[in-house]
Order: sequence, then C-alpha cells, then structure tokens
Amino acid sequence: MSSISFVCLGNICRSPLAEGIARRRFAEAGLDLAVASCGTGRWHVGEGADPRSRKVAAEAGYDLSGHRVRQLSGDDFRRFDLLLAMDRANLAVLEARRPADATARAVLFLELAGFAADVEVPDPYHGDLEAFRRVRELLERGMDELVLRFR
Ligand code: 4NP
Repeated sequence: MSSISFVCLGNICRSPLAEGIARRRFAEAGLDLAVASCGTGRWHVGEGADPRSRKVAAEAGYDLSGHRVRQLSGDDFRRFDLLLAMDRANLAVLEARRPADATARAVLFLELAGFAADVEVPDPYHGDLEAFRRVRELLERGMDELVLRFR
C-alpha cells in the first residue's frame, strides 16, 4: 500500500487537517506513503482550508496554507489504495460513487485506526474553535494508532 486520501464533506475542515497531521506523522515514522484529501461535496472547490482549521493546525505546528479543495473523482478510486472517510455519511457516498473498476478500499478512518466501529470524526463546520481543537486531537490520536498499524 502506498497512497491514502482522507475524505470529508467540504475538504475545508477535517480532511485537510487529517492530511497535514498524516504527512508529519508518516514522515516521523519513516512511512513512505503519498497523502492527499478531498471532499464529496463541490461547494468549496479551489478554496483554501477553513481559517479555523488553519488556526488549530498552526497551534500544533501543521501548515495547511498550501491546501486547495478538491472534489472526489472516479479516478480517486484507482489512484489511491485507501480512501479514509471521516464519517459514515461520507463513507456511504464513497460506496455509492464507487466505479466498477475501482481498486481502492474505502473505510472509516477511526475504524481502521482501531477505534470502536461507530466512532466518527464529527463535522466542526458549525462549531467554535474548541470543536476544531477537539477534531485535531481526535485526528492526532487516530493517526498515532494508524502509524502503529502501518509499521
Ligand atoms: P468538512 O466540513 O467536511 O470537515 O470540510 C464542512 C465544510 C463545509 C460544509 C460542511 C462541512 N458545507 O456545508 O459547506
């Protein structure tokens, strides 16, 4: 396995943060994995990450300034080995849009990280900065577990 894309709804809050955390954690662990992210929705295509995600990322030393929103495409199911959904709603979209020749596995991020099967990364879009910090911490905990499993 060599490439992973994190998937949320807008690709502005959760998955860019997951991507930034994964880049650093994987590099620190010496894991040679390509990392990307996308959204199932198209509203924010071409924009940067949400300023609240950028802020809580910067507080922990992750730089999301280069992020540009990308929408999930059929090609993602062939380009990536793993599509890691932030929640069940986006996992359902992945399953619904899966092309016949897909090779990627689509799974719930925290489930692959060993959390209980129903634990999701909650959508912080309508929340405050604390909600974004809780998302960052949950993603960091999940990524640490994922690194242990990938090693
Ligand atoms: P994300 O959060 O899926 O974590 O990027 C959201 C971003 C935008 C919207 C919803 C959730 N939106 O409705 O525009």
